[in-house]
Amino acid sequence: MAAAAASFAALPCLLLLLLLPSFGAASNVTYDHRSLIIDGRRRLVISTSIHYPRSVPEMWPKLVAEAKDGGADCIETYVFWNGHEIAPGQYYFEDRFDLVRFVKVVRDAGLLLILRIGPFVAAEWNFGGVPVWLHYVPGTVFRTNNEPFKSHMQSFTTYIVNMMKKEQLFASQGGNIILAQIENEYGGYLEQYYGTAGKAYAMWAASMALAQNTGVPWIMCQQPDAPDPVINTCNSFYCDNFQPNSPTKPKFWTENWPGWFQTFGESNPHRPPEDVAFAVARFFEKGGSVQNYYVYHGGTNFGRTTGGPFITTSYDYDAPIDEYGLRRFPKWAHLKELHKSIKLCEHTLLCGNTSFVSLGPKQEADIYTDQSGGCVAFLANIDSDKDKVVTFRNRQYDLPAWSVSILPDCKNVVFNTAKVQSQTSMVVMVPESLQAAKPDRWSIFRETTGIWGKNNFIRNGFVDHINTTKDTTDYLWYTTSFSVDGSYSSKGTQAVLNIDSKGHGVHAFLNNELIGSAYGNGSQSSFTVGLPINLRTGKNDLALLSMTVGLQNAGPSYEWIGAGFTNVSISGLKNGVVDLSSNNWTYKIGLEGEYYSLFKPDQRSNKRWVPQSEPPKNQPLTWYKVSKC
Ligand SMILES: *[C@@H]1O[C@H](CO)[C@@H](O)[C@H](O)[C@H]1NC(C)=O
Ligand SMILES: *[C@@H]1O[C@H](CO)[C@@H](O)[C@H](O)[C@H]1NC(C)=O
Ligand SMILES: *[C@@H]1O[C@H](CO)[C@@H](O)[C@H](O)[C@H]1NC(C)=O
Ligand SMILES: *[C@@H]1O[C@H](CO)[C@@H](O)[C@H](O)[C@H]1NC(C)=O
Ligand SMILES: *[C@@H]1O[C@H](CO)[C@@H](O)[C@H](O)[C@H]1NC(C)=O
Ligand SMILES: *[C@@H]1O[C@H](CO)[C@@H](O)[C@H](O)[C@H]1NC(C)=O
Repeated sequence: MAAAAASFAALPCLLLLLLLPSFGAASNVTYDHRSLIIDGRRRLVISTSIHYPRSVPEMWPKLVAEAKDGGADCIETYVFWNGHEIAPGQYYFEDRFDLVRFVKVVRDAGLLLILRIGPFVAAEWNFGGVPVWLHYVPGTVFRTNNEPFKSHMQSFTTYIVNMMKKEQLFASQGGNIILAQIENEYGGYLEQYYGTAGKAYAMWAASMALAQNTGVPWIMCQQPDAPDPVINTCNSFYCDNFQPNSPTKPKFWTENWPGWFQTFGESNPHRPPEDVAFAVARFFEKGGSVQNYYVYHGGTNFGRTTGGPFITTSYDYDAPIDEYGLRRFPKWAHLKELHKSIKLCEHTLLCGNTSFVSLGPKQEADIYTDQSGGCVAFLANIDSDKDKVVTFRNRQYDLPAWSVSILPDCKNVVFNTAKVQSQTSMVVMVPESLQAAKPDRWSIFRETTGIWGKNNFIRNGFVDHINTTKDTTDYLWYTTSFSVDGSYSSKGTQAVLNIDSKGHGVHAFLNNELIGSAYGNGSQSSFTVGLPINLRTGKNDLALLSMTVGLQNAGPSYEWIGAGFTNVSISGLKNGVVDLSSNNWTYKIGLEGEYYSLFKPDQRSNKRWVPQSEPPKNQPLTWYKVSKC
């Protein structure tokens, strides 16, 4: 098709009656004010985010096939910097991080790919995908105009671009990568914190991206003034009113959120398929041409990859494909029907002239007509409460509240976003009792309360938790001891241990007994707690296990927020408050079970595991292991 493609180049709207080659490869991607032009033809792109490290490579072909069957033309993924550059200049691309393998799985399925290199991604991913080590390179401020950040970022993005080029994966090389993204959700919102330094950075990032010379267009999401020729794109629940950063740019939607991520302690978010379909239909009705579901398959935040804080390991997202790779009904099927209907309109939508007709106070029609006589109409009822009957071209149409009807011939409704026709069966997971089956398969390992092995250091006062662990573990022990005399208690009052922490959680032990736990939450990781205690005369040992639950993944200066204790005191004593904050504190990084990797399959026979006839209950700091066959 190469020769033919050249002759179509000047005619992006020629109606092609020929069979097109598989969409998974391209050779020339450009754009105009309306859409991408792929090998000479305007294209409407249904894209779906699937993040490769959130599933295992064995799942990739099936996930991509499910997306394709659901009507996708394209897969979108971030590139996860901290998963790939594990130490400065030391790269990792194995297993779940085998990016080239993933892109090829997508290509071999005949689908296009949007590569969001970032390298900042947010993504509910630990530290927003920026390696923790970079925070400790002197002079670094993330996502702003400073040499260490720029040079490390440039090295990484260049590495990724060269890797894709070497494998001939950019569309300009005959591959399937049609767009590349630089930065992520910088937007007006960060500019107000970082000011001109941030702005300068955004400009710099764009010019760097262009310098990469990949032969495909570049996008920057949620940057209202992405510098030319970078295409600004929308991330939101609705993008119908989104205006691109110039009249010569098409209208792209990089993140349509079909659900939401889950945080610990909160209910499981849900977005009805009718509302997702409404948002998509409105976007195409109002001139959009690339639409991506963030995410189509969310998957799992394996290991310690989750960001947050307090975002769960499940990244199911109420997405069209669930965490386990199964279709979610009716969402998956309802959107499939929507995609089919929109594709019927593709040519007229992208090549026709548009006109608008008001059908009522909250009812409207957008009509597209092309030179070959094609006519497409979207009839919308944006009233969220009331169904409506409207008259369009002398015919009557029922429009349920908050819905769009699609008429690929300006007459017949092939789809209404509020009418879910598809199957509604749900997958029900059945729990299996491990305890009942074979009790003798259990073993446990009990952690020491406080310092195990040799301490790491003793310091007067508190250190920052993250600065100390460097995120090699979630756990940091802070221990101290103090003496009380026999008459410590103030009459009628109980002594209370008061803890102030920047986050994220604590288990507190006094004289080896658990006296309580506390934690923050997704919106407020810091917390204050008062725990009633019974002191003993003489020496008392206090051991506080500070915990992180996924590092911050976004926000202004997020890498400086820190964690751990800021004040520990005892009140309710006869002599008033005893402030332990400036005591000598003894520190230990991590847990013993982590040190011996007891959680890894290859340690299942480690002799530290103690067999149990029955697993003990309510035992703090206990690792449990069970095998099932
Ligand atoms: C790529 O497509 C554009 C517009 O469709 C056209 O102007 C350009 O000549 C094409 N380039 C190549 C190398 O075919
Ligand atoms: C669109 O409208 C313009 C002028 O308004 C006209 O010149 C052109 O032929 C129309 N195109 C189509 C495809 O109808
Ligand atoms: C999170 O913590 C803050 C401060 O303690 C509290 O005001 C807020 O209600 C908490 N939110 C949730 C969802 O628990
Ligand atoms: C972490 O350490 C750096 C210096 O290494 C310091 O500038 C920063 O303030 C510390 N962060 C916290 C939260 O203490
Ligand atoms: C810690 O909190 C106690 C009780 O509120 C207070 O008296 C003390 O001054 C605080 N210490 C520091 C170092 O802020
Ligand atoms: C705290 O530790 C330092 C050094 O480890 C030591 O010199 C000092 O005496 C200790 N202070 C107390 C009150 O134990």
